[in-house]
Amino acid sequence: MNCTWKALLLLTAFVSSLGFNLDTEKPTHFHMDVAGFGHSVVQYDNTWVVVGAPKEIRATNQMGGLYRCGYHMDKCEPVHLQVPPEAVNMSLGLSLTAASNPPRLLACGPTVHHTCRENIYLTGLCFLLVSSFLQYQRLPTVPQECPRQDQDIVFLIDGSGSIAHRDFQTMLKFVEAVMKQFYRPRTQFSLMQFSHRFWTHFTFNDFASASNPLNQLNSVNQLGGFTHTATAIKYAITVHCPKRGSERCHQGPHCHY
Ligand SMILES: *[C@@H]1O[C@H](CO)[C@@H](O)[C@H](O)[C@H]1NC(C)=O
Repeated sequence: MNCTWKALLLLTAFVSSLGFNLDTEKPTHFHMDVAGFGHSVVQYDNTWVVVGAPKEIRATNQMGGLYRCGYHMDKCEPVHLQVPPEAVNMSLGLSLTAASNPPRLLACGPTVHHTCRENIYLTGLCFLLVSSFLQYQRLPTVPQECPRQDQDIVFLIDGSGSIAHRDFQTMLKFVEAVMKQFYRPRTQFSLMQFSHRFWTHFTFNDFASASNPLNQLNSVNQLGGFTHTATAIKYAITVHCPKRGSERCHQGPHCHY
């Protein structure tokens, strides 16, 4: 073996020892007796391990919590963030991510129950911590508003051959159940089905003008064929909202192959 080879081998050994080490002999245990503790874990600011407990009930309608655990103190303590009262059951800590230089931590809860009249919408709230646990920013910075108008719902169902007939029927039952939950005429529905073909079963207009819109579900048959999901989603979006305006979009019935 010549010198170059020896040097290279030494270098390789050195580089591989620069990786991380796992202490399997005497690991440090961090434990908190709260629901969901450990669902998410990140290293923050070199000193801390931050752990999410998204199912913890901290107060009425306040779900989720964050803990910081330090090797130097061998335990965890709660991180206190000012969760606004409107962030009902947000599941704080369901997602956590950290970056270094400068140390930043983003802790989110994606299940804020936002009540708008008779409907509940799920929205999210995040906290961005920079370099400490005391300074943080809420994202979005202002509470989300209720949609100014009632929202219309487009169902796009997969009717391709990869869906068993029984499951297709379950999907239709789901569509029916959702349609029954909303008040007419404020929320309008449209139903589309795709495989490698695309079929519009009823549009918002059809829905609005039908005396019993649920009857339109009776004539829905599974298309069969390949599963062109992305194309179908893209198509459903362009058909329904050519431009995001305040006006509801209405389109006539059509079918594309
Ligand atoms: C929040 O979660 C708790 C516990 O699951 C539940 O009892 C409560 O009803 C929820 N609040 C709302 C407004 O959904």
